[in-house]
Amino acid sequence: MRIVSGIQPTGNLHLGNYLGAIRNWVKMQDEVTAAGGQCLYFLADLHAISMPHDPAQLGANTREMVAALVACGIDPDRSILFNQTQVPAHAELQWLLNGTARMGWLNRMTQWKDKAGKNREGASVALFTYPVLQAADVLLYQATHVPVGDDQKQHLELARDIAQKFNNDFAPEGQPVFALPEPTIPPEAARIMSLRDGTAKMSKSDPSDMSRINLTDDADTIMAKVRKAKTDPEPLPSDKGGLNGRSEAANLVAIYAVMAGETVDAVLGRFGGQGFGAFKPALGELLVEGLAPINARFLALQNDREALDTILVKGAYKARELAAPTLTAAYQALGL
Ligand code: ADP
Ligand code: NA
Repeated sequence: MRIVSGIQPTGNLHLGNYLGAIRNWVKMQDEVTAAGGQCLYFLADLHAISMPHDPAQLGANTREMVAALVACGIDPDRSILFNQTQVPAHAELQWLLNGTARMGWLNRMTQWKDKAGKNREGASVALFTYPVLQAADVLLYQATHVPVGDDQKQHLELARDIAQKFNNDFAPEGQPVFALPEPTIPPEAARIMSLRDGTAKMSKSDPSDMSRINLTDDADTIMAKVRKAKTDPEPLPSDKGGLNGRSEAANLVAIYAVMAGETVDAVLGRFGGQGFGAFKPALGELLVEGLAPINARFLALQNDREALDTILVKGAYKARELAAPTLTAAYQALGL
């Protein structure tokens, strides 16, 4: 089993990023490597340029994301952790696959339609072709499994179509150049809402810092943010159904449940009937306890540019070694 998965390098990481994305990578790493498989995790810095971005921020965001991944439990000795830019084979293979991908296939991608909106003429070519780069990202390593949420299923189908057509067109006899990767459903991801508005996602783009818990927040800040989180005057209900229509309360209980590894009903079994005056300090302490070690590792690593660059250089070396035979086979099949 070989899993390949990428994440866009974003800055200002928060509890939503940790519980909704990074934690799942750590779980996958632990399960897959224990079973003798391999995980390749990359920072999708080439993908980041398909939308407007700030060049001055991109490198810093990439390093920040690496620091967060390692702080949260991605082990660069067990997983291959790298950024796309340091493995030029991603961009090379994309170009080779551009000869196989069809305009009609890409035109049907719903993300392209959504992101380009009405302004197709003004959209970048990269926005149109980035699903081909995604195909290259996984086909390059003969990935057997790719974790995909609902929004990425169509892109993995495209990768399989490209692989199949390439194999048929250029390696009809003998060894196929690309393996067809299977989708795996990632472990269920938590969706964390803002501490100021239970109907909005916790996000780095929210102008209020009180709306989110950052991976850089210290214990006092976490406690204060939880204490000031928006709630309603009712005590907590004794079961999940009682949270209907109480989005802020539901969010705080959900965060507690995920951090404690318990079900929502188990949490309410203990706190049902109590007010937020009792629940919030308990939640704050749970968050501090869970995040303090991550926070410490994150801050130390974030300031250690040399350590971060070493992790990326080593990861890219391993990734290039794995990618080389497939890239060579692709060139040869095309007569290049
Ligand atoms: P933001 O919304 O802060 O800009 P990104 O869009 O950069 O975050 O998301 C990076 C990763 O973190 C994605 O995989 C995304 O699904 C996950 N993520 C971001 N915010 C949340 C959230 N509030 N709850 C769960 N997952 C989240
Ligand atoms: Na976002």
